[in-house]
Amino acid sequence: MADSTLRDKVTVVGGGERNLGGLVSRTFAEAGAKIVVHFHTAEQDAERTAEAIREAGGQAVTVQGDLTRVADVRRLFDTAIDTYDRVDIAVNTTGMVLRKPILETTEEEYDRMFGVNAKAAYFFIQEAGRRLNDHGRIISLGTSLLAAFTDGYSTYAGGKAPLEHFTRAAAKEFAGRRISVNTVAPGPMDTPFFYPQETPERVEFHKSQAMGDQLTRIEDIVPVIRFLATEGWWFTGQTLFPNGGYTTR
Ligand SMILES: NC(=O)c1ccc[n+]([C@@H]2O[C@H](COP(=O)([O-])OP(=O)(O)OC[C@H]3O[C@@H](n4cnc5c(N)ncnc54)[C@H](OP(=O)(O)O)[C@@H]3O)[C@@H](O)[C@H]2O)c1
Repeated sequence: MADSTLRDKVTVVGGGERNLGGLVSRTFAEAGAKIVVHFHTAEQDAERTAEAIREAGGQAVTVQGDLTRVADVRRLFDTAIDTYDRVDIAVNTTGMVLRKPILETTEEEYDRMFGVNAKAAYFFIQEAGRRLNDHGRIISLGTSLLAAFTDGYSTYAGGKAPLEHFTRAAAKEFAGRRISVNTVAPGPMDTPFFYPQETPERVEFHKSQAMGDQLTRIEDIVPVIRFLATEGWWFTGQTLFPNGGYTTR
């Protein structure tokens, strides 16, 4: 992938059915990419997203998978190769949040959180490294909590924390094939993922701490992901913390 457009770039989007991943799928497709829309439980959302892409003249296929299972991660990339004969870009937006004190967290919760946020992220990067063409792009989703000193998010931020090193190690290991590997770590984003574990007061607090007194929108983050997938060739092994450098809203 030596050029800097998305035209005909086969893109696997982990969690590509709705919210941030859904917008990545649709935006990349509008720019000419061929999309593999991965979903876990939300099949209808995945079909809706794929149908919207096809109606707009693009190409999309859906595939279900529990990405904590390595076999499912491999099947996701198999689907891309079987459908389009190649993979150029892999964006993993999957994740799971829990806000709970350490003293109350169960072993089962710990395993589930690290299963999605660390293990699935690791094997997604591994399989992308095996299957992407030279000049490919791998982009994972972290969280700005990686840079925060806060309570309650030990298994969420802790589960995402290894991503920073997975990203650095993979960037080094895949550099010979000019594959870049980066993580995007947004602040609190206005999606249904964010609200269940927060009180209305904490939502207001998060807004007050953000640039422009507002939550991040998925529309703010997709251009960052797109940049890393196209013009961002000089970035690799990085965790980017997009924080709203200016606001026009
Ligand atoms: N919203 C925020 O405040 C915020 C802030 C910073 C970073 N992030 C990160 O941004 C990413 C996208 O979040 P979002 O707000 O767009 O929410 P989202 O749509 O709920 O994204 C999470 C995705 O992960 C999938 N997933 C969960 N467990 C899975 C598993 N075992 N196997 C495969 N997929 C699984 C979910 O599918 P199911 O729901 O079907 O399980 C969903 O598609 C996440 O990685 C999140 O950690 C979010």
